[in-house]
Amino acid sequence: MKLISIVCQKGGVGKTTIVVNLSSMFSKKGYKTLLIDLDPQGNVSTYLNFDKNREDITNSTNLFENTTKINPGFLDENYYLIPSNIKIAKHNEEKIAVGSKLKKLKENGVFNDYDIVFVDTPPTMSSLVQEAIVFSDYYLIPTKAEFLAIEGVGQAMEFANTTLKSIPNTNPVFLGVLLNQIFEETESHKDFVTELNEILGEKLLKTKIPYKTEIAESPLYAKTVIDFNEDGELFSVFTDLAEEIKERIGLNEKTP
Ligand SMILES: Nc1ncnc2c1ncn2[C@@H]1O[C@H](COP(=O)(O)OP(=O)(O)O)[C@@H](O)[C@H]1O
Ligand SMILES: [Mg+2]
Repeated sequence: MKLISIVCQKGGVGKTTIVVNLSSMFSKKGYKTLLIDLDPQGNVSTYLNFDKNREDITNSTNLFENTTKINPGFLDENYYLIPSNIKIAKHNEEKIAVGSKLKKLKENGVFNDYDIVFVDTPPTMSSLVQEAIVFSDYYLIPTKAEFLAIEGVGQAMEFANTTLKSIPNTNPVFLGVLLNQIFEETESHKDFVTELNEILGEKLLKTKIPYKTEIAESPLYAKTVIDFNEDGELFSVFTDLAEEIKERIGLNEKTP
């Protein structure tokens, strides 16, 4: 089992979009995939047209309240969701304790049934995001290709580092920065990528997600871009992204 969080305190950079489409891709490749939403806004559920207030399954608030077993919602073959709603906000104020709650759950093997777990997080620097970082094996920071967004990446990296310094025995790996919503043809974009490459080196993911109206519209149809357009460019972008991540985290091939 590998657990990856998508974090950035800046809203609108594509955390939810990426986590939904990427997790959907892994499930389609045959990996048993769990998606956990830790954002009180519950955007993942809205995206996937899932009732975030269902009482018969585990929701993200339950994870903070002495759960020993999980019963996620079923989305599709190999694809499961622990949704979030506003109730989780009350756990946002808690001072993070050494050996956090989510980390304990993970250490107790609660997620071991899954090949891969993805975690969406709120656009804040809050203890919910700290919980996510601390219990992850990897964390990924998405950004738009904009000058001000890059400042956000630096701040997100610093927030993660500060969080991890204060908690012993936690060693999630910084998976890297993922560029989203790019307009490849512009000159400023090329300068931008060059500069980012110099700063980040290997930590800049090779796969970059283009700006596409299909992505912005996909939640409207409660479909991932992968369901939407199986032969399209976006299917291949998310295939490449999944491949790159598989390589970076050393996830074994799944033979169907
Ligand atoms: N590559 C993209 N192309 C077009 N629209 C995008 C793309 N990525 C995200 N969006 C849109 O940008 C908005 C913010 O994305 P979202 O995933 O909700 O960001 P976050 O979770 O970081 O706040 C959404 O309306 C989403 O549909
Ligand atoms: Mg979001």
